[in-house]
Amino acid sequence: MANLLEEQRETWNTRSGFILAAIGSAVGLGNLWKFPYMLYDNGGAAFLIPYIIAMFLVGIPMLILEFSMGHFTQRAAPDAFAHAHKRLEFVGWWGTILGFVIVTFYPVILAYCFSFLLYSVEGIFNGGQLPWAGKGLEGVQQAKDFFYKDYLGHSEGYSLGSLRLEVVLMLTITWAAMYLCIFKGVKLVDKIVRFTVLLPWLMLVVLAVNGLMLPGSIKGLAYYLNPDWSQLAKATTWQYAFGQAFFSLSLAFGVMITYASFLHRKGDINNNAAVIGLADFATSFLAGLAIFATLGAMSYATAAAGNPVSVQEVASGGPGLAFVAFPYALAQLPGSAWWSFIFFFTLVTLGIDSAFSITESVLAGIVDKTGWRRSIVLPIMSFVGLSIGLVYVTRGGLNWLGNVASFIDGTWGIGFVGLLECVVLGWFWRVDWLRKHANSRSEWKLGIWWDYLIRIFIPVILGSLVVWSFYDDLTRQGGFLKNASGNWILPNCVGISIMFFAPVAAILLSFVKSFYQPDRSAQNTQLAKGQNGGVVAFVLSVVSAVMLLILFRLAVLGREMKILLWILLVLAAVSVVLSSYLLQRYNTATTRASWFARWAGMIGTLDLGGFLALCLIYFTKQKQLPKTAASGADELTATAYVILTVIILLIVSGFGWCFYRALSSAKRRDEGMQYPDEE
Ligand code: PHE
Repeated sequence: MANLLEEQRETWNTRSGFILAAIGSAVGLGNLWKFPYMLYDNGGAAFLIPYIIAMFLVGIPMLILEFSMGHFTQRAAPDAFAHAHKRLEFVGWWGTILGFVIVTFYPVILAYCFSFLLYSVEGIFNGGQLPWAGKGLEGVQQAKDFFYKDYLGHSEGYSLGSLRLEVVLMLTITWAAMYLCIFKGVKLVDKIVRFTVLLPWLMLVVLAVNGLMLPGSIKGLAYYLNPDWSQLAKATTWQYAFGQAFFSLSLAFGVMITYASFLHRKGDINNNAAVIGLADFATSFLAGLAIFATLGAMSYATAAAGNPVSVQEVASGGPGLAFVAFPYALAQLPGSAWWSFIFFFTLVTLGIDSAFSITESVLAGIVDKTGWRRSIVLPIMSFVGLSIGLVYVTRGGLNWLGNVASFIDGTWGIGFVGLLECVVLGWFWRVDWLRKHANSRSEWKLGIWWDYLIRIFIPVILGSLVVWSFYDDLTRQGGFLKNASGNWILPNCVGISIMFFAPVAAILLSFVKSFYQPDRSAQNTQLAKGQNGGVVAFVLSVVSAVMLLILFRLAVLGREMKILLWILLVLAAVSVVLSSYLLQRYNTATTRASWFARWAGMIGTLDLGGFLALCLIYFTKQKQLPKTAASGADELTATAYVILTVIILLIVSGFGWCFYRALSSAKRRDEGMQYPDEE
């Protein structure tokens, strides 16, 4: 692999430069704008269970995967996958294309934040007058009207209507700012993120502390931390939690691969990934505390003023939480213009580095592949991104934005690409190489369990989610693509089209001749072994795949066949164990496991995912978990206190451990520890 090291690739100035840039990408609107409403809409603290699984058992291990992939190959996502195998390049493009779709709408939300920031500044100079401020329930309506009618000129339905010039202007400013941040390459990004990561964090802490100190804040936390367990039986809760984790960690969009490709050859991987994942989780959690504590304080203040407004009345959930409920709440409290300024400034600074990280990753993907100049590709890309973004700046735009976004960051979109990433790298390439590469540079080492996590555990979990959510969509009451009255549901059709367009475009792009020719001589000379066992495993996996299809069809028809389900489990498990053994045995320096074993492993793993999904479908149909919602109750329950304690312990001990490892490894290095250069 030495050929990859020959090229002099630009690198971050320092370790903190890389960590901050990656945190900058991860921590964004997803944490402060999206996470709180996702949680509020999906069972309060119950949502934290799938979310924690998604972050810690899937997210951080995949972050390590992406970091080692980018660092090992020193290429952006498409080329990095091409390095694994030329046929796999499309996986990298697929994620990158979905990233590009995000970069058409993400800056639109940033543009809203910019506008609200300016209104707050105006408010400061106007003696605290904010355009959305009103009292009591009419005030809530006024805040809603301000955002939806006055600002967005929002119309229901899916016809687009005219452009909103004010938002267009803000969107252009946002794109210009993004352009200026990255046009010089990562050295400048390195400097910018010192400002755009640390400052919003500080402000978020200030917002949270302020919120928590106000009277009545605990009542708001009841909406945040009291769980409604019944939501866990819904496919959408799990789907949203995993989608949110991928979106929030910028996973599977190629961004983290690209950023790691600029990491210095001796840069740490494992510990950095853990620190970044923890930081992202902690920020979301803190953002939730800040938002709900303030809403609680609002409810207390309005009651004291004789005009009571409850948290539920204002936080109708959804994307309006940050633009309606929170500004309204701030307006009921002292110093509202200043606090609004701090809130929207936090949003803008949090979001801008996430937005440009996606642009950077698409840009690096194109530049690495074609060898074209950044200075030409970037302006064209920005122009195209901005132009497509205009769709969302029309009167009907917000409806489209919500819908497209839910396809991209849901299981249909990024969950699927994440699944693909793990299975193809796990079964078709050598995750053991990546693990050894990561370990050779890291302050703590991964065991072989990580290979199994990537190869089997994560695909089974993601695979089951994909099947479960397909089932959920296909059997939805009233229909998915057409509604009960037989009319097409346009946004869903467009969403599905994007989902199909992305892989097709990705495959086409991977056929374009590359400027970069990876040296695969090492792989080509390896002898394939374990053919016979591979064929057996392959047949078993295919048979269970057929059974899976039959069972899925039966489930859609509302029938079940338990015996077939158990046979499916046994066949799939045997094929996975067998092919796993073959890979373990024959993937050595000079030989490799046969293609049959690899395909068998992949198909078998997906079958297991399907099995799990079917179990979930049957289970959730038979049992309705009782609604345990304490939503409505204003007091924190004992469970909520336990959840709060566990999460704080998780965050503190996680960070403590990472820093301890970093320190002790720095000490060892002083004593002359050597980094082996290659495995
Ligand atoms: N992680 C970012 C956020 O939470 C959004 C993002 C998604 C950034 C995808 C890059 C890629 O806001």
